Amino acid sequence: MDKWHADKSENLIHNVSALRTAERLPNDFIIGVGDSDLQVVGEKFSRKEEDSQATMWRQYARESGRVYRNDTPDRAVDRFHRWEEDVDLITSLGFKHYRTSVSWSRLLNKDQSVNQDALEWYQKLFRRLRGNGIRIYATLYHWELPAHIHEEGGWKNRSTAQAFCEHARIAVTELGEWMDEVFILNEPWCSSHNSYFLGHHAPGEGNLRDSLLAAHHLLLAQGIATATIREVVPDLPVGTVYNIEPAFAYTETDDDRFAAQLANEFFNDWFFQPLYEGTYPEALREQYGAKCPVFDPEDMEMIRVGDQLATMGINYYQSKVVRRCFENALGYLPVRLPHEETNELGWSVSVPPIYPEGLRIGLERLHQRYSEHGLTRMLVTENGYAGSGNDAPNSPVLDDPLRIQFHENHLHQVMSAREGGVPVDGYFAWTLLDNYEWAEGYRPEARFGLVHVDRDTLDRAPKASAEWFKGLNGMRAERVSTEGQAA
Ligand code: FCB
Repeated sequence: MDKWHADKSENLIHNVSALRTAERLPNDFIIGVGDSDLQVVGEKFSRKEEDSQATMWRQYARESGRVYRNDTPDRAVDRFHRWEEDVDLITSLGFKHYRTSVSWSRLLNKDQSVNQDALEWYQKLFRRLRGNGIRIYATLYHWELPAHIHEEGGWKNRSTAQAFCEHARIAVTELGEWMDEVFILNEPWCSSHNSYFLGHHAPGEGNLRDSLLAAHHLLLAQGIATATIREVVPDLPVGTVYNIEPAFAYTETDDDRFAAQLANEFFNDWFFQPLYEGTYPEALREQYGAKCPVFDPEDMEMIRVGDQLATMGINYYQSKVVRRCFENALGYLPVRLPHEETNELGWSVSVPPIYPEGLRIGLERLHQRYSEHGLTRMLVTENGYAGSGNDAPNSPVLDDPLRIQFHENHLHQVMSAREGGVPVDGYFAWTLLDNYEWAEGYRPEARFGLVHVDRDTLDRAPKASAEWFKGLNGMRAERVSTEGQAA
């Protein structure tokens, strides 16, 4: 065993686990990998070489003091220059489905005209992906808000919804022919509450009312963009991506059960219910009281487009156990349980018996609640494990058994949901490379990649988890071809 690789017996165990997983997946079940533009591209390269706009993250990372070591997305993993290598990497790992984002700050100039150099960059990336037989799932907003729009108020302004729709229109008009599916937003909970209320993400603000306005404008943008895209490219399946954090009551008391309801409404239903039913959750509105803005009923009609979406993308990292708290604006507090297993960022990954079962339960709840309102198909668009690499004691850098276990466990939960009748058709691992992890910057514990990136040279080296997916993808491809020959 050397510093980089596990010994052979480890590999054998991993092969068995990949085989066990491959056997459970139907042939048409999608296995993919994802990332987002700002986390990989290297903003300073796109700014210099294609004159793209700065995102709001650039200044925030430098000046807010809330980003690990003030790390910026300036260099990220230099996808800007290494795009061919990365496409070949995806291909060599046997992935046939890839999710990434088309950055608003790159594709549009400040005057909302098309940035031709950026457009050509995406065209060459997409052409190579398609040429290698890889299907493209493109997100239109993965937090790449142009700095000048942020300076005018960002998502607190209603006009931002309209401005975003211009980006959506141009992206699908110019690049739609390469896209297999388009996702409008990534995690509106994060772009509103995590950014304007909890202040963990850019722009780092702390006002609940503003945050509720931001959430409303994001939902409005999503509704208007759905109509726009369906008009411009009627054949392109439109979806959107939400993060879920299922909440569970600490005790079975009425108070704690109500706390779980409030937490589920805060994270999940505040975004799903308007999309599918055209209303905001009542209990949470009451909890917010005067802090909750009054929303225009006509807006709610524009927002309720759930039944027009081909796909609901679900990102899942963790669940929550909560108890009632009367002093808190949200009405509940998370509870840390003894023996809670966390990833190296402290996110709970297994509080027996809840997690990773939380993913299955979350998918089941959504199906039960929203299928009659038009939720027809889900994809798990993100799920992944953060760790510094050598995550088991004394293990080599590229040996990441906890990540393998994480993906395997969660995939089996997804299959249990599917076998129980939940329409979930695929699973995308987050993420291809150790990239820029927002407020965690390049913190060693925040490496989510299947492929290790050397922070100095930016050299890529597949970890054991990448080999695990390669094995899984290979076994499935072989089965499809054998069955094809037999038919
Ligand atoms: C999600 C984001 C993604 C990545 C993962 C770890 O919330 O969508 O960009 O940062 O978390």
